[in-house]
Amino acid sequence: MNDLDLARRVISACDADIAALFEKRMEAVRRVAAYKKERGLPVYDPAREGELLQKNSALVEDPELRAYYITFQRNTMAVSRAYQNDLIGGAADPGSSIRVSLGERSYDILTDPDILNRAGELLDLDRRVLIVTDSGVPSGYAEAVARASRRPVLVTLPEGEGSKSFDCYVRLLDAMLDAGFTRHDCVAAVGGGVCGDLAGFAAATYMRGIDFYNIPTTVLSQVDSSIGGKTAVDFHGYKNTVGAFWQPKRVLADPEALSTLPPRQIANGLAEAVKMAATSDAELFRLFEEDDPLTRLPEIIRRSLCIKKAVVEADERESGLRRILNFGHTLGHAIESTEAPNLLHGECVALGMLPMMDEEARGRMRAVLEKLGLPTTYEGDPARIAEALTHDKKSAADGIDAVYVDRIGSCRVEKTPVSVLMERYRAVFGGTR
Ligand SMILES: NC(=O)c1ccc[n+]([C@@H]2O[C@H](COP(=O)([O-])OP(=O)(O)OC[C@H]3O[C@@H](n4cnc5c(N)ncnc54)[C@H](O)[C@@H]3O)[C@@H](O)[C@H]2O)c1
Repeated sequence: MNDLDLARRVISACDADIAALFEKRMEAVRRVAAYKKERGLPVYDPAREGELLQKNSALVEDPELRAYYITFQRNTMAVSRAYQNDLIGGAADPGSSIRVSLGERSYDILTDPDILNRAGELLDLDRRVLIVTDSGVPSGYAEAVARASRRPVLVTLPEGEGSKSFDCYVRLLDAMLDAGFTRHDCVAAVGGGVCGDLAGFAAATYMRGIDFYNIPTTVLSQVDSSIGGKTAVDFHGYKNTVGAFWQPKRVLADPEALSTLPPRQIANGLAEAVKMAATSDAELFRLFEEDDPLTRLPEIIRRSLCIKKAVVEADERESGLRRILNFGHTLGHAIESTEAPNLLHGECVALGMLPMMDEEARGRMRAVLEKLGLPTTYEGDPARIAEALTHDKKSAADGIDAVYVDRIGSCRVEKTPVSVLMERYRAVFGGTR
């Protein structure tokens, strides 16, 4: 018997064990479903799932296999949930929603697993629907939305920031005009922040504004860009120069859609969640410190969304409080302007936060960033960073409104001259001007 045969024998034996354990597990799931049905409890319990993932993944001794095991366990949980929903019958859970209260522009963000496959039930797609996705997003996600739509028009753009352009914007307008879209039709973005920002801008401007649904599929877009209503395209190489505030009608942030996302993109999005924790939620920050964030993604996303929701509700148009979301972004943007596309946005924000913190908070931040695989050291040219800061669009004669975190969980905004920002930058990353 050769090695392949031997290995296949072991796999068959494991599969037999797993099949027996599967039946045993599903028998227990049946009892859970009966208990929940009797008491009217929801099928999905993100805190319980997070705890289980955390506990069970610790049982896997080979660190290389841990991430694969987490995916395996997540799929097992999805199957268990589907079985519970079938047993309980009737309409599935409406989804645990987060309401963004903005008067007549209010909307819900639904964050339950597999919610993407329920788009037909949860969104009004009984009309013409422009579905905007990109070539890097697994095509099944947009196809699921297209299947649920009465008259879908699917546009797949090239992946990457380059698609947040006037050319792609015009392509979307053309697609809508050609298909005879009226003011009663709608746009749905299925993808990361690039699709959301671009599709949102097309929705904001076509016939003076039509309904927009956002279905974010990256961590960054789920925790950050899909709510708040900022839509834009880049212009002449400057990011987000032309845009509009246009709130979505509903957001479906499906944690299962993140299972296809490469680890670097997950860490990139988590940088924004860590940012929100640092400025506003010390408990969420401790979760990053004490747990394996990969096992707690749905919870991290929900808590980050709650922080962003509160900020957006208090300051829809970014005239005051919303500035705290810019923590790490002043230096981060300056670094990004010299490093893109080698460094991703979240990676630049990670670097940009460090100089804006007091020593103890910075030590804690550095440890969390390292755990997430985000950069904590940088050797760029300080002169180019200073130059980029001077040209920052938010820069005024008396300085830039910079966000500081002296203590984890709170922050302050202070007008800061570029020279002071550069002192802080050099104190952390070194280099002379
Ligand atoms: N509107 C806002 O408030 C706001 C806030 C922050 C950032 N942004 C914008 O968001 C953009 C960045 O968003 P992003 O980080 O999501 O980048 P992105 O949209 O470019 O997505 C990153 C990559 O992941 C791929 N992808 C998306 N979903 C996937 C999935 N489920 N599985 C596998 N691959 C997948 C994409 O094809 C792309 O290659 C920037 O343009 C930024 O300006 C907007």
